[in-house]
Amino acid sequence: MKRTKRIITLLCICGIIAGITACKNNNDTPEAKTLKEAFSGKFYIGAALNERQISGRSRDETELVKKQFNAVVAENCMKSERIHPEEDTYDFSLPDKFVAFGEENGMWINGHTLIWHSQVPEWFFEDSSGNTVSRDVLIRRMKDHIQTVVGRYKGRVDTWDVVNEAVLDNGELRKSKFYEIIGEDYIRLAFEFAREADPDAELYYNDYSTAIPEKREGIVRMVKKLQEQGAPIDGIGMQGHVDIKAPSIAELEKSILAFSSLGLRVMITELDLSVLPSPWEMAGAEVSSGFEYSEEMDPYKTGLPDSVTVAFNRRYTDLFSLFLKHQDKIDRVTFWGVNDGNSWKNNWPIRGRTDYPLLFDRNNRPRSAVDSIIRLTR
Ligand code: GLA
Repeated sequence: MKRTKRIITLLCICGIIAGITACKNNNDTPEAKTLKEAFSGKFYIGAALNERQISGRSRDETELVKKQFNAVVAENCMKSERIHPEEDTYDFSLPDKFVAFGEENGMWINGHTLIWHSQVPEWFFEDSSGNTVSRDVLIRRMKDHIQTVVGRYKGRVDTWDVVNEAVLDNGELRKSKFYEIIGEDYIRLAFEFAREADPDAELYYNDYSTAIPEKREGIVRMVKKLQEQGAPIDGIGMQGHVDIKAPSIAELEKSILAFSSLGLRVMITELDLSVLPSPWEMAGAEVSSGFEYSEEMDPYKTGLPDSVTVAFNRRYTDLFSLFLKHQDKIDRVTFWGVNDGNSWKNNWPIRGRTDYPLLFDRNNRPRSAVDSIIRLTR
């Protein structure tokens, strides 16, 4: 399937070159209208789909996805707590629809995520009396989980986020239950089980805040060790939950370079750009009692001032300039959501705010940033 997609991509590129030549002959300039047209031949441009989009209940959003994007990932339905809620129960209803949607629309399909410390059901780590399971039992459960899920979509899901968020911001390995019970080997084993289940799927490590220098170095250390042990890792997903100020383009670039110099492909995954004040920066001020809602932390309930839109567009332009600069290393840029209304950023890290992190507004209209980043490709 991957070969077919690459051939289709190649044909698209040839078509575009032919189009450019024709336009040049007509003394005209080709103008890409959609994101996927604009980035064709550079990298896939993707979106995370929620349940309403996958099931087609949000028709306008589903149509928007088909029009603008050529890669998809499921926001939640493939996480272990959803797809494998009990040891003997798998729920493939929505994941099946998700994969079928990607296939019907010729999209690059990423599976998210196999082994993650969060959104994992408790049964994974406990026996029937509620005691912590042994190392052997957890390895067997991990293997069953990975092989059942990856095996079901063998040859259909192109890439998997095999392990999510195993490294802390200080570069140490996270002391998750997988780590505590199995030891750091759980990471290598997860990649091996996934490769056995589908030898053709590309396998990734995915994490947030990968531009923090200590974390970047921690990921590089972990991956080098995996590679020395022969673990089948193909790429690194850099989650892109960013805001107007951080992280800096320079640190992001260092991470793209560091990861690709390991011989791996790089993806920008989970991209969204919050415009709201960060409670971490304001800590000690209005949010001293935890990250509770306050009017001060939710300043744009009725709309964005022009000055913020300008800063937002500039920031997205800077980010995409960087991605385009490294298009030889980057295979895919995926937004974490379709429109502003369905972004998780409206509820995290403070519930009930109004954020504007994506490229399409609450009515699925393209925001001005769409044009700004498409212009970069002309
Ligand atoms: C992390 C996970 C995603 C998602 C986001 C928040 O980045 O990898 O699956 O849960 O957090 O929505």
